[in-house]
Amino acid sequence: MIEVQHLTKRYGQTTAVDDVSFSVAKGEILGFLGPNGAGKTTTMRVLTGYMPATHGKATVAGYDVFEQPVEAKRRTGYLPETPPLYPEMTVHEYLTFVAAIKGVPPASRTRQVDTSMQTARVTDVAYRRCGALSKGYRQRVGLAQALLHNPEVLILDEPTAGLDPKQIIDTRELIKSLAGDHTIVLSTHILPEVAQTCQRVVIINKGRVVAEDTPDNLTASLAGVEAIYVQVDTGGGDAAPVLQGVTGVVRVVGTEARDGRFSFEVHSERGHDVRRDLVSAVVSQGWGLLELRPVRLSLEEIFLQLTMEESESDAARAASSRDSDGVASEASSAADSGAQGGNSDA
Ligand SMILES: Nc1ncnc2c1ncn2[C@@H]1O[C@H](COP(=O)(O)OP(=O)(O)O)[C@@H](O)[C@H]1O
Ligand SMILES: [Mg+2]
Repeated sequence: MIEVQHLTKRYGQTTAVDDVSFSVAKGEILGFLGPNGAGKTTTMRVLTGYMPATHGKATVAGYDVFEQPVEAKRRTGYLPETPPLYPEMTVHEYLTFVAAIKGVPPASRTRQVDTSMQTARVTDVAYRRCGALSKGYRQRVGLAQALLHNPEVLILDEPTAGLDPKQIIDTRELIKSLAGDHTIVLSTHILPEVAQTCQRVVIINKGRVVAEDTPDNLTASLAGVEAIYVQVDTGGGDAAPVLQGVTGVVRVVGTEARDGRFSFEVHSERGHDVRRDLVSAVVSQGWGLLELRPVRLSLEEIFLQLTMEESESDAARAASSRDSDGVASEASSAADSGAQGGNSDA
């Protein structure tokens, strides 16, 4: 239903979205998860035809959002981060107004407004001014607005941001009830959100897709060998530096130390099983190994791990480019002095 292929969006020098690809099947709820500034809103603006991409292609229901924008928009409902409400209008006036703009035929306007108010559960505030609504209601009026022309696809940008816990639960239930009839992409920077609402998750960080899977698979595929609980008896000294020194270990998190017994959570590079080397390291110190077992990572930790690996490889790239710059400038200064030498010889 939605295809995004190699989408890149630059704002001047800033690359907000960098070669992002994903697709969403009909009736599916896709979670678009990433920290603030990851590029979620930018991707959604491109997908809804509000902004052109720098490179790449996106289609909704088979229609190219750049080349067939009218057809694509007819099938898309968009809830922006901040719903564009007119504070002086009542909810009913506002929705009738938007229905007209969206080209809902006059004959079906009243019915469409009523239906979308019911679906988004805002009928009880129909004659209240938009400006007087609570954040939760404003968000739902925004959702009613997105539903007005009965689109197949819903693009919801952080639909639960700023809501209180009760409103969050209500909104989640509402979104789930819309799936099936609708294909939904919802963005969030909050992990439990996707685990509870979505069937599939695309994790984005610094404009790039860093993972894509079901919430369960993401947890399972990264669980086990990548995080290991270790308890050692050193008799006194700290075990952390030794564990940290094992090849493939990214991070050692101390959980507790008591009577010379240390507990750690050891996080390793993805796909690098460090268990044997951990055992060797502990044994070669003459310490007692009391426990060693895989730990199931929460989605929160997976997210941290993925985004940290990303920034660590960024740091590594930055360091290696500094190195090569260093080499280059040494080489060029050598060439300079060679040239000067040549001159003085001449
Ligand atoms: N209109 C804009 N002009 C320049 N930079 C922008 C603009 N909008 C967003 N950005 C930048 O693009 C990046 C992605 O932003 P955004 O798509 O809003 O991320 P998210 O929605 O995930 O928080 C950020 O670095 C942000 O500062
Ligand atoms: Mg955003």
